[in-house]
Amino acid sequence: MPTPDVHFRTIIEPFRIKAVEPIRFTTRAEREAALEQAGLNLFKLHADDVLIDLLTDSGTGAMSSEQWAGMMRGDESYAGGRSFYRFEAAVREITGFRHILPTHQGRAAERILAGVALKPGDIVPNNTHFDTTRANVESAGATALDLPIAEGLEPENRHPFKGNIDVARLEQVLTDNPGKVPVAMVTVTNNSGGGQPVSMANLREASRVCHAHGVPLFLDCCRFAENAYFIKLREDGYRDKTPLEIAQAMFACADGATMSAKKDGMANIGGFLAMNDDAMAESARNLLILSEGFPTYGGLAGYDLEALAVGFHEALQESYLRYRLRSIAYLGERLTGMGVPIVQPPGGHAVYIDAKAMLPHVPQSEFPAWALSLVLYLEGGVRSVEIGSVMFGRQPDGSEKPAPMELVRLAFPRRVYTQSHVDYLAEVLEHVNGLKQRIRGVRLAEAPAVLRHFSARLEPAHGSLLA
Ligand SMILES: Cc1ncc(COP(=O)(O)O)c(C=O)c1O
Repeated sequence: MPTPDVHFRTIIEPFRIKAVEPIRFTTRAEREAALEQAGLNLFKLHADDVLIDLLTDSGTGAMSSEQWAGMMRGDESYAGGRSFYRFEAAVREITGFRHILPTHQGRAAERILAGVALKPGDIVPNNTHFDTTRANVESAGATALDLPIAEGLEPENRHPFKGNIDVARLEQVLTDNPGKVPVAMVTVTNNSGGGQPVSMANLREASRVCHAHGVPLFLDCCRFAENAYFIKLREDGYRDKTPLEIAQAMFACADGATMSAKKDGMANIGGFLAMNDDAMAESARNLLILSEGFPTYGGLAGYDLEALAVGFHEALQESYLRYRLRSIAYLGERLTGMGVPIVQPPGGHAVYIDAKAMLPHVPQSEFPAWALSLVLYLEGGVRSVEIGSVMFGRQPDGSEKPAPMELVRLAFPRRVYTQSHVDYLAEVLEHVNGLKQRIRGVRLAEAPAVLRHFSARLEPAHGSLLA
């Protein structure tokens, strides 16, 4: 008699490794010098000086052998290349949108959408705008309004869909501002809010409310596949659906989308702007030609379009999504076990440390999350990113307002690190947690007016990073 399938508990990386890239070990003294050289800004480090790079999951993933094979098939024709049609077919199957414009990355899609839809004085509601989305809305003279649900701002709250938009407030904004909201957005998953998912019920409600007011709903859909898998795991009625079917149902709630395909496109570069409205698409195509490229390549090489056509589907494979979400949850459990406060439950692409809770002795005016991210690098060679008051504190009028949360994001590149890398990370965090009382704040020494976290120079607020 055949042995029945045994379901082993260990969730393994659903791939084997064909090419490796060495990582470089540095001494603490070397890292101290590198930090000083970088003006205490992790964005300005040489990547070779980083051991484990969790700065972002954007464009940092490993491509599959199928994607590399696809790249060899890339058609580099200026117009009408077959790679575009493959790309378009993959995006259309998943999203169902009529017009699909390739862009070189997400912010280009955002800029074009802002260019065709917004004018000064407009308002764009979103569950939480990502930094580039906010900057593009504001540079069009419009207001970027964040409407997360209250639970989304409580790091310890284990609500299953903390990425949800507050539909009651959305409805109020639409009622109070007729004609001033040309588009509403929902970001899936909600990156700035902790990588938290948005439920299908919430998307449907947001869609109903927007449509009742004649306002189109756009998804910022960088992590649509991770969001779809959370819906499968956590929302009634989706357990037996495939991630593709769930993604299709998510997009059916919307009228368009902006996408950074550097995330769930599983590629190193790329994006798209998609929509159903013919007139808006016509204007968007004109802007695309002006600033990105011809509509059948939009700032990408034909081989990038091939990598994406394969990648969108790989991102929706269940074995991949199970491993992906499990690796993040695993680090979350290790950190919770050692008493490091994190945004609960862990999100889809990252673990977010709650620096306000971990370092209550560092005031928000001294950027606790930024300080913690520097110490993680100094002690363990780990690069993370601050999502707090350096990133979001400066208001369009130049004033300062503390961000609602001070988070350190440990974002996982897709298919890059293994379990022992994660175990190492947990050890670094345990060490840093042990010296947290000694961590001191920082202050800005030099900062540009927009997106200052990318290039600001900082200095210790009290002489050194550690007391
Ligand atoms: C939610 C979200 N929207 C937009 C973007 C911008 O995409 P890109 O970096 O490709 O311009 C990002 C990138 O990190 C993101 O996470």
